[in-house]
Amino acid sequence: MISFNTCVCIIVVCIAVQIHSLPQTQQKSTNGKPKRQPPTADELVQINGETENSSKVALSPGDPNSYSRPDQVTTQHIHMEWDIDFENKIVSGKCAYTFDKIDLKAKVILMDVKGLNISSIKLQKSGESLTYTIDGELDYGSRLTINLPENHVDKIFKVDIEYRTTELCTALMWMRPEQTAGGSYPFMFSQSEAVHARSLLPCQDTPSVKATYSANVTAPKGITVLMSALRKTEKTEMIGDKVKYSFEQPVPVMSYLIAVAAGHLESRKIGPRSHVWAEEKFVGQAADDFSETETMLQIAEDINGPYVWGIYDILVLPPSFPYGGMENPCLTFVTPTLLSGDKANANVITHEIAHSWYGNLVTNKNFDHFWLNEGFTTYMTSKIKGRMQGEALRHFDAILKWPSYNETVHEVLGVNNSFTKLVVDLKGENPDDAFSSVPYVKGSTFLWYLEDLVESNYLQFGGKNEFEDFLRAYLENFKYQSITTDMFKEFFLNYFVNATFTEEINWDAWLYATGMPPVKPDWDSSLAAPCYNLSARWQQWDTNTECPFSKDDLADFLPEQVVEFLNSLLYGKALNEVAMDKLTQLYQLDVSKNIEILFRWIRIGLAARYEKVIPAAVDLVTNVGRMKYVRPIYRDLYAWPEKKQVALDTFEANKDLMMAVTRQGVEKDLKINQ
Ligand code: BES
Ligand code: ZN
Repeated sequence: MISFNTCVCIIVVCIAVQIHSLPQTQQKSTNGKPKRQPPTADELVQINGETENSSKVALSPGDPNSYSRPDQVTTQHIHMEWDIDFENKIVSGKCAYTFDKIDLKAKVILMDVKGLNISSIKLQKSGESLTYTIDGELDYGSRLTINLPENHVDKIFKVDIEYRTTELCTALMWMRPEQTAGGSYPFMFSQSEAVHARSLLPCQDTPSVKATYSANVTAPKGITVLMSALRKTEKTEMIGDKVKYSFEQPVPVMSYLIAVAAGHLESRKIGPRSHVWAEEKFVGQAADDFSETETMLQIAEDINGPYVWGIYDILVLPPSFPYGGMENPCLTFVTPTLLSGDKANANVITHEIAHSWYGNLVTNKNFDHFWLNEGFTTYMTSKIKGRMQGEALRHFDAILKWPSYNETVHEVLGVNNSFTKLVVDLKGENPDDAFSSVPYVKGSTFLWYLEDLVESNYLQFGGKNEFEDFLRAYLENFKYQSITTDMFKEFFLNYFVNATFTEEINWDAWLYATGMPPVKPDWDSSLAAPCYNLSARWQQWDTNTECPFSKDDLADFLPEQVVEFLNSLLYGKALNEVAMDKLTQLYQLDVSKNIEILFRWIRIGLAARYEKVIPAAVDLVTNVGRMKYVRPIYRDLYAWPEKKQVALDTFEANKDLMMAVTRQGVEKDLKINQ
């Protein structure tokens, strides 16, 4: 006989299957094009039917790019039990979440997911299965609603979710052995910022939630697994024919800082708290190029206070990594294009180190306020550089960023584009689409302006480094929190409450106006002057007359000055073929090991319609995934009518080897599927 209880159970299971099968089919949208606009609260009610729960759960009020509601239930800790399956290109296993019911009346837990295949959700304490729905599909994810039992009273409770990633996972890049330097083992890595963590694990994928995490990860023999956490595995433990690694991140972090990588890796110690990790081929060179890491950390601590993350390791990834660096805690991820042999790209390490305070400790509440992460970090990067190499280089560092920012505002986005604002509005937008140099350069310039204002006023009273005191107070006040621009502004105004100079600040123009910043600081241009002199001479050279240049022109230039010289040529009048030939041959730009130089030479050549640069352009976009280089080159090729097809063909041939974020970015640049 079937008891009443069993009967209820069967009905509940049936409902669970139904509810959960509806969105699963919905996820594979019929027209193949995901909806761009997030559903409104009313639409969500329609998706769910008119129930008490669904009418309450709209988009997160605190984050336009997340469905989670940390004001109702928030994540405290996540424990992952993962297996890395290279053959099927999936991560599978279980995540155990410790939740805190902030609103004791909460009946549901809202999370973000993308293309995850969930097999069960259970309350850990009782083992009871929980029903759930997945809906509200956007191009970067959907809403997962987990229903808590009617009689659920615990404030702190644990939930287990069993699942696996799918081919829709945009956080992971999988490489076959032949795509690695060593050629014998596969490789995988994650890139979760801004909103890709939801495709790696169900999570409250908003930077307003910070949780600690721990993990046990198994992988095939010969593969080392690393995560953005402390390594717990003292000696390798075998589980069958797999190796198990354990990790612990005791500092609460946002979902976008959860990172994993697995490959045939070696390590070298480069400092008391630092190792570099890389494939064997790169590890020695990486140890050389990043040998200043400890010095940078110490200077950063001196300015900002203690480094709270314990270790600072660096992982050199394969070239398909889409960024220069990513500030994953305990383990910065970097592109191998930094390895130039002369430390010329070490500023990326300085930048990621600076994120240990700005971004990772004090965090943007959502990606509208991304400049609080990147603007502060960029500003601090120049400051650390100044302490290492002198004030003139700090100024030059700021000058160097201006030309490409200017190009972004005037040529790429347009001065009236709302993404040129410091504080953006990402409602209905994918944060990846808003990514540009604006939060970096407009943000750091704003801080420079504020520093100038503070210092020039305090100097009257004999004070010094007042702005650094302010920064330390800001960190102390907001550490471990996620904040908005208004919270920063209020803190600044309260800190300088007795000063009159704060009245001068045009907050609205800086924060909410489109276009270039209202003030450009008066940067010391002594290091830039020789760069501009030389580029002016190149542009004025009548190529019917004798060539006035020699290979020694660059002999006394720092690598950064070569870059600024090339910036000046790139954004100036295009050179002719004779000049391009000479420039290439005299300065050997085509064989430079510094990709910042090679990249600019390619772009100068493309602007000059210089045929001989085409193989190098194609080569770079084929072998490198770093968007900073790949996207402008694709755009330049596309803009040269005779080379448009080269761009399209090259992309077609390589798109399957690109990480999703790069592929989607280039599709925009080449106006594919738009
Ligand atoms: N956090 C960013 C990378 C990022 C931003 C990834 C947004 C995904 C979404 C990282 O710290 C960064 O800014 N990298 C720069 C470094 C450069 C400015 C020195 C890069 O990759 O170029
Ligand atoms: Zn950054």
